[in-house]
Amino acid sequence: MSRTDDTVFPDGFLWGAATASYQVEGAVSADGRGPSIWDTFSHTPGTTVHGDNGDIACDQYNRIADDVALMSELGVRSYRFSIAWPRIQPDGSGPALEAGLDYYRRLVALLRDASIEPAVTLYHWDLPQALQDAGGWEIRDTAERLADLAVIVAGALGDEVGTWITMNEPWVSSFMGYGTGEHAPGLHGLDAALRASHHLLLGHGRASEALRAALPSSAEVGITLNLSPVQAVTTEPQDVAAARRVDGFLNRWFLDPICRGAYPPDLLAHYAALDAGPPVEDGDLETVSAPIDFLGVNYYSARTVGASDGTDGSLASLGVVDRVPPSTKRTAMGWPIVPTGLTELLVRVTTDYGPLPLYVTENGAAFDDYVDPNGEVRDPERVEYLDAHVRAAHAAISDGVDLRGYFVWSFLDNFEWAEGYSKRFGIVYVDYPTQRRVPKQSARWYSTVIAANGLA
Ligand code: FCB
Repeated sequence: MSRTDDTVFPDGFLWGAATASYQVEGAVSADGRGPSIWDTFSHTPGTTVHGDNGDIACDQYNRIADDVALMSELGVRSYRFSIAWPRIQPDGSGPALEAGLDYYRRLVALLRDASIEPAVTLYHWDLPQALQDAGGWEIRDTAERLADLAVIVAGALGDEVGTWITMNEPWVSSFMGYGTGEHAPGLHGLDAALRASHHLLLGHGRASEALRAALPSSAEVGITLNLSPVQAVTTEPQDVAAARRVDGFLNRWFLDPICRGAYPPDLLAHYAALDAGPPVEDGDLETVSAPIDFLGVNYYSARTVGASDGTDGSLASLGVVDRVPPSTKRTAMGWPIVPTGLTELLVRVTTDYGPLPLYVTENGAAFDDYVDPNGEVRDPERVEYLDAHVRAAHAAISDGVDLRGYFVWSFLDNFEWAEGYSKRFGIVYVDYPTQRRVPKQSARWYSTVIAANGLA
């Protein structure tokens, strides 16, 4: 992408950093917290790299004051964090545990004192195990339980928090949790994944209704999706059709119900041919498509695909193969680095589903960081990645996208789900044995970007 000198962002652009409860908090038995599906899953042999789990993670539960002080020192303007549902309702229903709410009240107060805007994600994957035992996201009732949680959390934090995200990445929760089994609860099956995806969407709709009823009218309510632009490797019709299927599978399956009140017909037909489909009841899609104040976009990479010969044996039998050019650089996750994809994606969402205020609620990269003999963590690849993506976000604004903010993933190295602690996404290094935080070169870089409201 061509570099322009003019990468100053609009006034009030929100520069943030993000984490999620199970990935950073630790303290899994503190103050009455119940088990979540991620506790159960990560303690099951063979599920995570090195058998890692979130028992201690970054111990943020006990170190929250220091972590907020570090954010403040770096100049971070907003902190996106999530609520650990089993701290609030250990069994996923019934009265709230005040100790759990108090933790988040304290976190919000610390942020406010430091002039850092809190952005709350209600659900970032740590479902109470008791709700999973009753059927988890495969059953409708779980959507109602999320709405109950929304009422409780809005009641506790509503006066102090202006930005509310009902849930993070329902695609990952449903397709990796209930489809491929790579994530908690580790179940397998296309129909299970589609049931979960529908009930997650319904949960988003029911939780946003509950939030709107409980919050001041100034509060903004939205949802965060993981989206990727999908390019066909050639202009041959079979490759173009393959790219369209992947786009439907990853992007439109969630964007269409939320923004248009209908599942994409081509995907419904594709799944019906496989004897699978979402369990839609009357009125569901009205609930799912109630207006949102913003859409949160998590962007890491883009796809380039072609048609495969015959069925590909994958969960959704999409009949595609990835055809990313071999010269494309990759992160430690193996994800191709495609900054232009972010511009393309933000413009596409705006064109096809907007106009709509957008936030990049996650963007970042894992690299193999280490503390050098001088005690420093130099991560030039991450600086390069973030610099290119911030420029790509700016290019989208120049193209007319109503982008309101950018959150780096992540503030800290943390428990990267099935990858355990083997993948470091932080702008701050965590030395897990001592829990010492070491701001990386990228953290210093980010501070200068925030201070300048853009790039020189
Ligand atoms: C996203 C998740 C986030 C983190 C990043 C790397 O899918 O929302 O929790 O794991 O990927």
